[in-house]
Amino acid sequence: MLLSVLPLPHPDSKKLIQDARVVVIDVLRASSTILEALMNGAPFVVPVASPEHAFTAKKQYAEKDVLLCGERQGIKVAGFDMGNSPTEFTREKINGRIIIMSSTNGTKAIDFASNAKQVMIGCFRNVAAIVGTLNDDDTNIVLLGSGKLGQFCMEDMVCAGNMIDMFLSKKGLELSDSAMAAHDLYLHYQKNLLGIMQHCEHGRYLASLGFGDDVVFCSRQNVYTRVPILQNGIIK
Ligand code: MLT
Repeated sequence: MLLSVLPLPHPDSKKLIQDARVVVIDVLRASSTILEALMNGAPFVVPVASPEHAFTAKKQYAEKDVLLCGERQGIKVAGFDMGNSPTEFTREKINGRIIIMSSTNGTKAIDFASNAKQVMIGCFRNVAAIVGTLNDDDTNIVLLGSGKLGQFCMEDMVCAGNMIDMFLSKKGLELSDSAMAAHDLYLHYQKNLLGIMQHCEHGRYLASLGFGDDVVFCSRQNVYTRVPILQNGIIK
C-alpha cells in the first residue's frame, strides 16, 4: 500500500489521485472551516472553484437555506455572506444552512481530487479521525496539500506528516519520497505546531489581516472525530 504526499494539485498527478483515497488538506483555513461548518449544523457543504460558480449554485436553493462563504486573498468575496474564518462558523450562524464555499486554493484542490476513489477533508482538528478512517482498507492513499497559489505550503505538509506519523504501524505501508519528507517535517515541528503555523507564510499573512485567532484555532489537534467526505459534489 503506497502513501504519497502531493504538496499541491498538479495535472501529472491525476492518475495517482484516481486510483487512491485522497485526503485534501488546507489547514489554513478551508479544511478547518468545512469541518467547523459541519460540526455546527450545516447539512452539507458545496465546494466550488470560483465565486461565479458559487452565485450560480446558490440559485438551486431557497435564499434562507443557504450561505455563500469563502475568500480571495483571505478576505470575504464581495456579495458573499461570510468569509473563510472558521471561528465565525458558529452554531448560531450556521445551523441548518447549506454552505456554498469557494476559497483560493482549498476548494480548487477538492475539485482536483473529485475523481478519486474517495475524498476526505482533513486538518489538525480531525487528524486522528482521518487516520482511523484510512486504516480501514488497503487502497493507496494520497495526502493532497492545497498549496498557496501554486506553491508549497508548510502547514499542510506538517499536517500530512502528522497523519503519516499516526499511520506508520500500518502493515505493508510504503512511503513516497514526499511522504517521508512530510513526516520528517512533522517530527521537527511536532512540539511547536502553533509556532510553525504562526511563522509560515500564510499564518503571517492571516495575522496581518487580523485573523491571528484563526491560526491558533486551526493548530489544535483532534478536537473532532468527524471525517467530512465528498460525494456527488457535496461534502457531508
Ligand atoms: C484557501 O483556500 O486558499 C484558503 O483556505 C485561504 C484562507 O482563507 O486562509
